Amino acid sequence: MQPKIKIAASILAANPVRFEEDIKKVEMAGIDMIHIDVMDGHFVPNITMGPFIIKGIKNVTHVPLDIHLMIEHPEKYIEAFAKVAGKGDYLTFHIETTKHPKDVISLIKKTGLKTGVSLNPDTKSKSIEDLLDDIDLVLVMSVNPGFDGQKFIPDVLSKITRLRSLITNEVDIAVDGGITTETVIDAVRHGANFIVAASAIYKNGDPANAIKTLRHIAEQTAREEYRKRVSA
Ligand code: DX5
Ligand code: ZN
Repeated sequence: MQPKIKIAASILAANPVRFEEDIKKVEMAGIDMIHIDVMDGHFVPNITMGPFIIKGIKNVTHVPLDIHLMIEHPEKYIEAFAKVAGKGDYLTFHIETTKHPKDVISLIKKTGLKTGVSLNPDTKSKSIEDLLDDIDLVLVMSVNPGFDGQKFIPDVLSKITRLRSLITNEVDIAVDGGITTETVIDAVRHGANFIVAASAIYKNGDPANAIKTLRHIAEQTAREEYRKRVSA
């Protein structure tokens, strides 16, 4: 089966004092997920938002949340995030932040949230290959985490191909960082089906149109790839 294309809008590039308005804009355009970048100033050189803000966001949208934890000691905060998140939301931690990923996965699973594992551009797929049966999402970072508006790192494409060859289509492969109308083609060609974009959506002037365009390109590329594969 062809994995379904999903588009997530990262509010890192939205207006932080107008989240409600900026979320409505993407909601009306049929966005699949709202991506929330949680940064702690330790694992990444930036500090953003936490459960307090997420609680507020949950009050203004029914779109599922894709919570991307870029924090050290993720196990300490899972309960706090689970309290403000809900069924259908994803909680993703970074493989670089723990020596016991299976324990973190089971903690997330116990909360009923969907489970994601993320890897930095320099981290090898091998580090998560034995976890693939236990998770819902792999989030492949295509920039070094910390900021929006960076350039896509093409070296991660081979990692996406490798991961897609190992997993069933029920596990989403997300790509996060530097997505544009061009880089999205490469990402989907190599096997990503879950597209995270901040600048391409919010710095574009017309978020609804940006989502429509990204979705159209991603779906068309996925169809072409699928046809190539079945006729090979
Ligand atoms: C980076 C974040 C990304 C970021 C993407 O650390 O994880 O989600 O918001 O921003 P763009 O799409 O502008 O590269
Ligand atoms: Zn992110």
